[in-house]
Amino acid sequence: MTEYRQRRDALIAQLPDNAAVVLPGAGLITRSRDSEFAFRQNSDFYYLTGIREPDALLVLLPGRAEGESVVFCQDRDPTMEAWTGRRLGAAGVVCEHGIDQAFENSERDELLVNLLAGRELLYLPLDNGEAVAMAEEALNDAQAGIRRGRPALKGWLDISPLIHAMRLIKSDAEVALLRHAARVSARAHRRAMQVSRPGLSEFQLQAELEHEFVWQGASGPAYSTIVGSGANACVLHYIENSAPLSDDGLVLIDAGAEFELYAGDITRTFPVAGRFSDAQRALYQIVLNAQQRAVSAIQPGATLADIHQGVVHDLTAGLIELGLLEGDLQARIDDESYRRFYLHSTSHWLGLDVHDVGIYRLDEQTPLPLAPGMVLTVEPGLYIPNDDDIPDAYQGIGIRIEDNIVVTNEGHEVLTADVPKQIAEIEALMAKK
Ligand code: GLY
Ligand code: MN
Ligand code: MN
Repeated sequence: MTEYRQRRDALIAQLPDNAAVVLPGAGLITRSRDSEFAFRQNSDFYYLTGIREPDALLVLLPGRAEGESVVFCQDRDPTMEAWTGRRLGAAGVVCEHGIDQAFENSERDELLVNLLAGRELLYLPLDNGEAVAMAEEALNDAQAGIRRGRPALKGWLDISPLIHAMRLIKSDAEVALLRHAARVSARAHRRAMQVSRPGLSEFQLQAELEHEFVWQGASGPAYSTIVGSGANACVLHYIENSAPLSDDGLVLIDAGAEFELYAGDITRTFPVAGRFSDAQRALYQIVLNAQQRAVSAIQPGATLADIHQGVVHDLTAGLIELGLLEGDLQARIDDESYRRFYLHSTSHWLGLDVHDVGIYRLDEQTPLPLAPGMVLTVEPGLYIPNDDDIPDAYQGIGIRIEDNIVVTNEGHEVLTADVPKQIAEIEALMAKK
């Protein structure tokens, strides 16, 4: 409760006195007919409140004597609560979440007009239709208010960059949650390695992973689990997971648990039957070397742009060594021919969202320097197409190795070290069924 309050206070401290923030939480989304997707709170709303109920709205009012934080929430309703469970109600929002004042949604239209009256700047997420509709309504009301001598609403601004700048630097409590999400995710990957064998299908490895997530108390996957066997590993967002495992191929698994809304995001690639072939080993070692060098470069002041450039250098050098690219290393980097085999970037922020919020550049020329508390992935890969000009042994091999890393004062901490990535360690774990 204290930390959520500190976050709201820190956001309010950045706003002028005549401002108001309007931030809707998520609602329920229909999956089919009258059944809904499992509820997932909006990450920004959750970051500022800790509230996990649908259809809530946060209003922040700097300097307001009766309290600067107001939440509107679902109405208490014994009949509905008999079907879908207890609701916090206004009293619960105040005493369980430390919000200054709360009201139920049935009062919202009437009270919101009064709360916003006289505020000259509205801050809201501009990509949220519901929030923009509320702002338009407030503008209409304000125009009526002007005739009664109230200050005019001057306009609205995007609140998201302010919240996202805060979310970019994780607190100790957030790092602890990410560490746990990473640990659960790592256990699931180890389990998938141990059960893998020819004769199974991709979805059976998916089932092992997701069983482990939930068994360990995570809510489920943080994003759609990718289990790509053989050439399916070359499809970056392959989520069908419907093919039989290829007997002598590799399988790429990109899967992470969501724990208390925080994401793990691990990729490992290993031989279905437990032993790398020479060609698989050669390609894998190139990706692994690039990945390890990238991880070791993470420290305050380093940039993701430099880390990505290092990966591109190492992968391109490896591709030339194997004969998959020809000519001069710098020339192949400059003409971007490596992009045939590596077309995504090396890192993204990680947090409440798997591709977490926060800027990557201060301006076009200036990448953001890393600072303690930032959490990121490092996930280089090589994806060799089934093309005629590629030697048979390399065709249709996809490899990615992804870890989650927190930047610390001293350098970095790898949150996902519990799942092996060295060839010998993977083969040893897989031999221990
Ligand atoms: N699974 C999405 C990613 O690794 O970014
Ligand atoms: Mn991933
Ligand atoms: Mn990732």
